[in-house]
Amino acid sequence: MSRRESINIGLVGMGIIGSEVVKILGEKSDFLSKQVGTPLVLKMAADIDESKREALGDSSIFTTDARAILESPDIDIVIELIGGEIPAKDYIQQAIQHGKHVVTANKEVISKHGPELFSLANEHKVGLLYEASVGGGIPLIGPLKRNLQINNISAIYAIINGTTNYILTRMEKEGLEFSTALKEAQDLGYAEADPSSDIEGFDAAYKIAILATIVFHTDIRPEDVYHEGISRIASQDFRYAKELGYAIKLLAIAKREVPTVQVRVHPVFIPDDMLLAKVDGVFNAVQVEGDLSGKVIFYGRGAGAEPTANVVVADAIHLAQNINLGLSVKPELPLDVPKIIKPIEEIESRYYIRMTIADQPGVLAQITKILGQHSISISSAIQKETDRTSQSAEIVIMTHPAQEQEMQQASGQIEKLDVVKEISNLIRVEG
Ligand code: HSE
Repeated sequence: MSRRESINIGLVGMGIIGSEVVKILGEKSDFLSKQVGTPLVLKMAADIDESKREALGDSSIFTTDARAILESPDIDIVIELIGGEIPAKDYIQQAIQHGKHVVTANKEVISKHGPELFSLANEHKVGLLYEASVGGGIPLIGPLKRNLQINNISAIYAIINGTTNYILTRMEKEGLEFSTALKEAQDLGYAEADPSSDIEGFDAAYKIAILATIVFHTDIRPEDVYHEGISRIASQDFRYAKELGYAIKLLAIAKREVPTVQVRVHPVFIPDDMLLAKVDGVFNAVQVEGDLSGKVIFYGRGAGAEPTANVVVADAIHLAQNINLGLSVKPELPLDVPKIIKPIEEIESRYYIRMTIADQPGVLAQITKILGQHSISISSAIQKETDRTSQSAEIVIMTHPAQEQEMQQASGQIEKLDVVKEISNLIRVEG
C-alpha cells in the first residue's frame, strides 16, 4: 500500500460549478483529508477568463492554459467542468493518456464518447467518474451502478431537464403561454440565451442515453434517442389535461422489451396522481423500475452550483481514496447487451389529439372513419369553444393504445380533410 503525502487536483473550468468546487475544496479541506486519509489539494486551476484568478486563495496556481494541467506530473485527478463537446472531450482524453484520473459533469461528452473514453481509462488504469453529468446534485449514477445493480431494470421515466420543467409548471399553474414562460426562465437564468438544447430535448436526450447505457448494459448514444421538444404545447393543452385528470411533462423514457430497447424524449400526458406529475419547477426526478427493487424514485435539484459541485467533489474523494490506498480502479461495466433500438414508429401508445375543425355536420364521422381504418379506437372526445365567426370548433380526442405508425398516418390523412383546419397537437399518453 502506497500512502501519499497529498492527492492533487487540477481543475479545468472555473465557471459557476467550478468556482463552487474551489469553495468546497477550501472550506471542507479538513473533512476531505479525513475522508481520503491524506490532504486533497487543489494544485492547479485553469480558465480562459484571466479574472477567475482572483477567486483563488493562492493565485499562483491559476493558469489560462488547460494543457499545463493535463500534462503536469504533479496532478493526480483532473476535474473537467468546461462543458460542451469540444475541447472538453480532447482534454479528458489527454488527461487519461497522461495517467490522470478524471471527474467530469459533461453529459454531452459522456453520452457521445463515453464507451471510448472508458476503454481508454481502463487501458491507462485510471478512473473516469461522471455522477454530475445527469441530475445535478441527485445521486443517480452511483446508485444505479452499485445499489441497484442486481436488478433487471425494465423502465426509466425521468424529468431530467429543469428548464423545460420550469416552463411547463408555469404554463400549468399560471396559464402562461410557452413564449412568456420561456422568457421568464431566461430572465431567471434557468434557460440559456439560446435555449434550444433544453427546449428541443437534446439535453434530456444526452442524459437518458447515459442512464439507459448504464441500466441496460447497452451502448446507447444520443442519435439512438428519439426526441421532441415542448414548443408546440399551448395553454389550452393544460386546460384539457386538467379536465381529463393528467399533467403534461417532458419525459425521458427508456424501456426494455427484450430484445429491444426504446429510448425517447417528448412531452407526455401522465395521470395527475403519479408522483412524477407532482415534480414542479426546476426540480428533477427519475423513476426506475427494477424486478427486485420495484419502483424507486430519485428526486432533487438537477442543476445549480452547490448541488452539482457537491457530487463532483464526492467523485474526486472516491478516486482519491483509491489512489491513497493504492487500489486499482474498478472498470466501467461491459456494454455486452446488443443494441436493438425499437424505432418510434413501432412503439404503442395512447394519444391525445387536439384539432381545429369546421363546425358542421358529419365532420366527426370523417375523422373517426380514418382513425378506424388505422385500428385506432377512441376512448373519449371533448368539443368546446365554437368560434361563431369562423364556424370552427376545437375538439380533443383521447385514444386507446395504438401503433405510432398508424397514428402518424392517420393524423396525416386527417389533416388533409377539407373540414380540418389543423391538428394543433398530438401528445403521447403514458401510465
Ligand atoms: N440545462 C439543464 C437543465 C441544466 O435545464 O436541466 C443541467 O444539465
